Amino acid sequence: MDQKQFEADIRPLYNAKPLYQQWVEAQNVPVIREFYIEDLRKTKLAPWASKGGSGAILNLIGTGDVNDGYLTEIPPGQNLKPQRAMYEELIFVVEGHGSTSVWNDANKKVTFEWGPGSLFSPPLNTWRQHFNGSGEKPARFLGVTSAPPLMNLFRNLDFMFNNPFPFSDRFNPDSDSFSGKGQQWMAKNRPVWESNFIPDVRKLEVFAWKERGGGGGNIMMELSENCMSAHISEFPVGTYKKAHRHGAGAHVVIIGGEGYSLMWPAGEKPKRFDWHDGSVVVPPEDWFHQHFNTGAKPARYLALKARGRKHTRPFGSKVYAVDQSAAAGGDQIEYEDEDPKIRQTFEQALAKNGLTIRMLPVPRKVKAKAIWKAKPKAKVKSKTRVKAKVRTKTKSKAKAARGAAKRKK
Ligand SMILES: [Fe+2]
Repeated sequence: MDQKQFEADIRPLYNAKPLYQQWVEAQNVPVIREFYIEDLRKTKLAPWASKGGSGAILNLIGTGDVNDGYLTEIPPGQNLKPQRAMYEELIFVVEGHGSTSVWNDANKKVTFEWGPGSLFSPPLNTWRQHFNGSGEKPARFLGVTSAPPLMNLFRNLDFMFNNPFPFSDRFNPDSDSFSGKGQQWMAKNRPVWESNFIPDVRKLEVFAWKERGGGGGNIMMELSENCMSAHISEFPVGTYKKAHRHGAGAHVVIIGGEGYSLMWPAGEKPKRFDWHDGSVVVPPEDWFHQHFNTGAKPARYLALKARGRKHTRPFGSKVYAVDQSAAAGGDQIEYEDEDPKIRQTFEQALAKNGLTIRMLPVPRKVKAKAIWKAKPKAKVKSKTRVKAKVRTKTKSKAKAARGAAKRKK
């Protein structure tokens, strides 16, 4: 092929937009590209011809295109068009009541009802249709999907939206499959609730996770045999969690309380995002982020994520030690290692609401170096190893102090 022929036939392929981007532009609905959304209930939508109802696409900056989000509203008494897609999606009901039918070409429909706070996932490539159960009020939900990488990988919309493959390993047409029944198990020392349908994530029990700080609790969630997953975190009045960092795409949806989050790449000044029930923030990959409760009731959020614990990680191989000290090679900033201004600012924010801090005093610093600034990472081999390292350090400091005392004598 000569250069002239290359310019005519091949060059346009090099310059083409990724398929996902082309698809987004063809939807002709608002596209949001921000760090956060202040209120999902107030986000402006426009008629969405391909889905029915109205909607908007969320390409929040922190997703790094490993996933995306969308908002859809179903007018009173109406329904959306039946759809199926070769990407996973998690659906959180922002407001309204309704029902969804799920089926594939070989099986009968399974229909279930949802309301505010419901979380569910139509299994990969099943047909799904959503109905508003109210004749008076609209119903609005948030979907988080793995569309960007999958559309860009296959580059064929017919394959993505008109594919008969049934994925019988993911869809069970049993009438119980979206009843809210599930099972709880432990994975990597964290409790996991596995179910295709959770009636109300505001009511799901959480379990203490003291390593993450603030007296908070959490539960992991796996739905519909997805690679994507979710979790809920809650932390009490007057507290804040430790900063940590991880991969892209965690849509942190506030489902209770008020407060703010700080987000920053190592070594840079934190950006602050104030939130309340209905806000969403997505921490970018490798950015530290930290959540603060400044309200009069516990703060709770739902994280909708690109990766889960049950199935193989589909994006990258980097594993973050999200609850282990960055000073010891992990990805969390312990309270004693953080910039003291972080706690001072939190106390000022609480005071504005007539509240006081309910945290234990900052622990004595074990490692002197401020590790919240850029620092080359060492590999964390195991939790035991980190603890052992810290103990050794403490011991050697104490030993040195005893030695110094003896020498004085
Ligand atoms: Fe996080």
